Amino acid sequence: MLPPTFSPTASASASPPPPRPIPGSHGPPVIGALRDRLDYFWFQSQDEFFRRRAASNRSTVFRTNIPPTFLGVDPRVIAIVDAAAFTALFDSALVDKRDILIGPYNPGPGFTGGTRVGVYLDTDEPDHERVKSFAISLLHRSAPRWPSVLRSSVDAMLDSVDSDLAAGGGDSPSVNYIVPMQQCIFRFLCKALVGADPSVDWVVDRFGFTILDIWLALQILPTQKVGVIQPLEELLIHSFPLPSFLISPGYNILYRFVEKHGAEAVELAGKEHGIGEKDAIHNLLFVLGFNAFGGFSVFLPFLVAKIGDTGSSELRRRLREEVRAVLRARRAGDEEDDDGGEFGFKDVRGSMPLVRSTVYEMLRMQPPVPLQFGRARKDFVLRSHGDAAFQVAKGEVLCGYQPLAMRDPEVFDRPEEFVPERFLGEEGAKLLQHLYWSNGPETSQPAAGNKQCAAKEVVVDTACMLVAELFRRYDDFEVEGTSFTKLVKRQPAPSLSPATAGAKQ
Ligand code: HEM
Repeated sequence: MLPPTFSPTASASASPPPPRPIPGSHGPPVIGALRDRLDYFWFQSQDEFFRRRAASNRSTVFRTNIPPTFLGVDPRVIAIVDAAAFTALFDSALVDKRDILIGPYNPGPGFTGGTRVGVYLDTDEPDHERVKSFAISLLHRSAPRWPSVLRSSVDAMLDSVDSDLAAGGGDSPSVNYIVPMQQCIFRFLCKALVGADPSVDWVVDRFGFTILDIWLALQILPTQKVGVIQPLEELLIHSFPLPSFLISPGYNILYRFVEKHGAEAVELAGKEHGIGEKDAIHNLLFVLGFNAFGGFSVFLPFLVAKIGDTGSSELRRRLREEVRAVLRARRAGDEEDDDGGEFGFKDVRGSMPLVRSTVYEMLRMQPPVPLQFGRARKDFVLRSHGDAAFQVAKGEVLCGYQPLAMRDPEVFDRPEEFVPERFLGEEGAKLLQHLYWSNGPETSQPAAGNKQCAAKEVVVDTACMLVAELFRRYDDFEVEGTSFTKLVKRQPAPSLSPATAGAKQ
């Protein structure tokens, strides 16, 4: 459980009490950082690391060190684990987001051919506006083809999973879906976002996602717990920046692929946003590989595993009925066939509230990008719930930990529980302002002047479409870990008549 949010004793006077110093300590030089690093990677989980420190400081804002602890990287941060103080991280007037995407450690532009890509740019830098607008334009341009490309890629993935599961035979067949899903996400994003079909290039089609996995790993592994036997992990993965040259040949293959087959997208960057060809390709590759492929590769497996969990059979029944009701409404009058064709953005935005709420709840419980960072632009008072206020000095680094901020008991009932219907109805809609997975409230919009995920809407829509597609195709499925253990193909069931559907809704 989160400790109760710190709030100083209510004052009788009308004026708020003065800000108090931030509790916690960075510890003695070197030793403090090393102790925190070993706790973070070795002795505690990431969650435990933040929970324990919040409890021992009796505060949801406290000082700590965040690994890695390389030479030249200052690990001292102010951690934030409540929903109120977290919002400071979205305020461009308060925080500078320059080169701080994954924390004080920055893997550097070696991974992107020397270009400082958009995610590392602060809103004060003129290039940020250009690159963010380019990303938003790319999404607009791809919107008409997004649903059909998604569906055909998901179908291809599920065809292969189906046949592997059937071939597995035996009493307890199981098919791991991570590789097929990554392949599917990669092919889908190339077509939808870049406008380039990877099947034109055998190497890209076959190995593109693996290249991206290695490229991503080299950038973020110094900040991640991997689970390799200690102390090997500390010595080999967390002690120095991992070099970009190891993946340069693979990255260059993808660069040439985008240059040749994504020429229209690159032209758009030049004509409409004034971005040169080289920078456009590196930014496009970063959005494709890091933001989109990286984000979906983390989020979609969580989502499928949660819904397919053996304990979620009732949730699956309700989701299936909601999805099938939409399909039937499409095919009104044709009771024999409830395959109503392709889902679009409109269906998953308006007609599948439980699917959508389940996706939101997953993003609340397991945000794919758990940490957010920002450097104080000036001295300011960081406000939390009630009267709680803390003095932050210019230059200090704020580190928000979303999984705890989005389980803040001041905001969410039963915060530690997965409640699929949490975001339904009027009351549920009010909670969306506290859903922060996109580096901003779900009720705000990404814009050139902020740092919110450009694909905020389409990420949720895509996840909803995947869920809808699963229930269009299967009556039921089960997952253990990251493997499908049961896939029951859809039966054209006469019991699913429009009348029944109406009753069940
Ligand atoms: C599940 C998938 C995704 C997740 C979880 C995700 C999450 C995020 C987060 C947390 C940030 C803010 C990073 C920070 O500054 O701290 C971000 C930024 C961004 N995301 Fe996403 N994202 C996803 C998919 C996508 C996709 C499909 C695109 C495609 C265009 C995209 C484009 C961007 C861009 C351009 C930014 C930079 C915003 C800026 O610099 O102002 N993301 N994303």
